Amino acid sequence: MTTPTSRSGPALAAMLLCCLAMPTRAQTPPAAPILSPTPRFVEKTGEEIYANVCRACHMSDAKGAAGAAVYPSLAGNAKLAAGGYPVSVIVNGLKGMPSFGGMMSDEQIAAIVNYVRTQFGNSYADAVKVEDVANARR
Ligand code: HEC
Repeated sequence: MTTPTSRSGPALAAMLLCCLAMPTRAQTPPAAPILSPTPRFVEKTGEEIYANVCRACHMSDAKGAAGAAVYPSLAGNAKLAAGGYPVSVIVNGLKGMPSFGGMMSDEQIAAIVNYVRTQFGNSYADAVKVEDVANARR
């Protein structure tokens, strides 16, 4: 093992250049997913997706909020009776609600829809299927 002091000038310069360049190169792989045109959520279960995505607007108890905008209650919401409605809202968005179709897989959207349709006082037992989400994208 050679120490830096035993190296010749050019070799030391090369080593310094190498070290200066390293942090930039080391950061390239983790940055790639952030630069992808449609960032995708990694959460899988409806519970995780609700907590990390929906809760920000619809609140922990899903009762929504009114402030700068009106965030409707998903708790005891009769509009969730037809599973196709929340699927469409999440895939396409609805006025003040952003669309999540490009950020979630069919599996994730089915999971979050089935979660909100069976939580917060909702008890719609007819789960939506992954194919229902795929059809709603067309
Ligand atoms: C950035 C805030 C925001 C986020 C995040 C958000 N929503 Fe919404 N959502 C809204 C707003 C605002 C509306 C009302 C749209 C309108 O009718 O003007 C809405 C409406 C809805 C509706 C329709 C309710 C009704 O009574 O018509 C459903 C279902 C819904 N959201 C589910 C979800 C789910 C599930 C998530 C998580 C994947 C989510 N939302 C994330 C803001 C948000």
